[in-house]
Amino acid sequence: MYFNPNIGHRDDWYSDSVFGQQQFIGTNPTTITRASSYLIDEFMTASRTQQRADVKELLKGDPVNFYVQDYSDFRSTMGVSPNADFASEGRYGCSSVVLFHLEPDGKLHPVAITLDYKGSMQHSVTIFNRRITSTIPGDESADWPWRYAKMCAQVSDWLRHEVAVHLVNTHLVEEVIIVSAHRTFEPHHIVFKLLEPHWNTTLALNQAARETLVPKIIIGMTGFTETQTYTFLKDAYSKFDWTGSYVPNDLRRRGFPIEDLGKLKYHNYGYARNIARMWEILRKFVGTVLKTAYVGGDIQVADDQSISAFCQEVRSSSGGQLASFPNIKTLDELIDFATMCIHVASPQHTAVNYLQQYYQTFVPNKPSALYTKLPQSLAELQSYSEKDILLALPTRRPRDWLIMAQVPYLLSFEMPDESTILHYATMTSDLPSTPEIIRKGARVLKDDLEAFIYTVLQYSRELDDQKTPYHVLDPARTAISILI
Ligand SMILES: [Fe+2]
Repeated sequence: MYFNPNIGHRDDWYSDSVFGQQQFIGTNPTTITRASSYLIDEFMTASRTQQRADVKELLKGDPVNFYVQDYSDFRSTMGVSPNADFASEGRYGCSSVVLFHLEPDGKLHPVAITLDYKGSMQHSVTIFNRRITSTIPGDESADWPWRYAKMCAQVSDWLRHEVAVHLVNTHLVEEVIIVSAHRTFEPHHIVFKLLEPHWNTTLALNQAARETLVPKIIIGMTGFTETQTYTFLKDAYSKFDWTGSYVPNDLRRRGFPIEDLGKLKYHNYGYARNIARMWEILRKFVGTVLKTAYVGGDIQVADDQSISAFCQEVRSSSGGQLASFPNIKTLDELIDFATMCIHVASPQHTAVNYLQQYYQTFVPNKPSALYTKLPQSLAELQSYSEKDILLALPTRRPRDWLIMAQVPYLLSFEMPDESTILHYATMTSDLPSTPEIIRKGARVLKDDLEAFIYTVLQYSRELDDQKTPYHVLDPARTAISILI
């Protein structure tokens, strides 16, 4: 923990540029979304109130290139009234809204932050960056009110990343697939055989998360109460959109169509470029196997009783309760489904899990809670100095500081070589106990993954920021399943 590199080793870790880039290659690169006209209008109104004509002009001039990290639904999701504060045992939480401008050369520049959205921006504290474009010079290190606002955004993201993006959208969703498959498929069924290697360790690990990690550690790390956290968790599960989360659908919905990812404007979005290519690779592998197994095509898929029983089990109110799960009737749908199962267990979990050490053991970059009440007005925020930032961090609660640093470290341990997806493809290619059609697919997968190693390096070399590479989705380091 002491010797591994982390973001705090950069002397510009607090800068707008590093903050922006974390939305593209950090621990949560999965929720940055094109801004709705509703939010643009709200920021527009706030800019008028604050007499920031420069912001208004920027918003009007290029509305399609504004993106948000929008945590404004925390209160409605958790059933908390708009004017209530988030507080738990001396810790404070918040629900920020962060506005970014994707500049023509591909820099994601933070323009405005609402610290804690209380039903409307009018009733919340919103601060605009003094530097409304990345090219405007300024002393970023001494801009404490703006640095505090970025810290609030990170606190909001801590909850959504750990509870929704990481725990629910990978660990718990995959668990439902695993349990439902065991209940409905025979162990020799081709779909079961294809997916089983991606289920290693997950059930036991999730049990430990339910019994220990969440109730005894995570709940005590945030500014949200136990009830609020579990309400948020259950809401995230009930809203999980299975087909909407297929990589091409997800990227398009968020304003990053895959056919455009080669354009200059998107070259810094390392996660999107890697995960889109990885989806294609996995889909080709799965397609190779399933097209051979289902030579009868759609009719054979529709006739497969195990598949219909499985789909019912995942959706059932006494089973998986995943309402968005499709009723798989065609070969194409079956291939997408199996691709998604591997995607969630392997590259997606790897992307949102293994960078926690780098970005979060250095607590000031992404604390899980604040330790002072949030400012109640813009004037109060504008008076903030370095001292206020230090007081908002767990400087007076060293045990909390230690846990905040230690948990991401523990969750990011390097996996052994034999647990990577590349190792799986290599071994499976010539494993006599594996069905021949899967071996054939695994040979294709192995070749594609080996080529992808160089693509990962290339995408990373194309990032503007060369101080922090993006290699997490290197298939020689991508875990085969949810192992931690
Ligand atoms: Fe994990």
